[in-house]
Amino acid sequence: MVIFSRTLFFLITIFTLSIIVTFAQEPIEYTESLPGFRFGGSDTYKDGTIILLFTQGNNQTKFLDTKIHLRIIFVNRTILPVEINYNSLPDFIPQCNSINPLLCATTLTPKALIERYVLIESSQNGSPHKQIIISWDGIIYGYEF
Ligand SMILES: *[C@@H]1O[C@H](CO)[C@@H](O)[C@H](O)[C@H]1NC(C)=O
Ligand SMILES: *[C@@H]1O[C@H](CO)[C@@H](O)[C@H](O)[C@H]1NC(C)=O
Repeated sequence: MVIFSRTLFFLITIFTLSIIVTFAQEPIEYTESLPGFRFGGSDTYKDGTIILLFTQGNNQTKFLDTKIHLRIIFVNRTILPVEINYNSLPDFIPQCNSINPLLCATTLTPKALIERYVLIESSQNGSPHKQIIISWDGIIYGYEF
């Protein structure tokens, strides 16, 4: 019986290792052609799908005309680009009238909700400001102002 369970254990180990080897993949190579991308944050869904948030055209002094871009990286390694137009919610980005750009540190943080939905929180100097919920097709579904 001891020999049998050792064999079984060995087989299970081999099986587990082959699964790990199957899932160990090459890094994803992906090039962005849009200028001025700045990384904002990331989060991961339960199934392993990754969200990356970038801002574009980000002037540290003023957040005017800043675009939000998401890159949804699926487990099958395809990447879905999402552009968010929040012009209808101008208050989403906190205003800052200070001349000192260090006092206007605005950050946007993505949070993975259920599949297809992302919550984005804006904050200034570390204190939360507003939240929006968007879907993977860039539509704003809800907001808390
Ligand atoms: C950012 O915006 C401020 C105010 O509009 C402007 O004075 C500054 O030149 C801009 N900086 C850049 C790098 O565009
Ligand atoms: C990859 O997965 C996503 C999400 O499940 C799916 O929409 C897409 O069609 C898949 N792409 C390929 C090439 O299998």
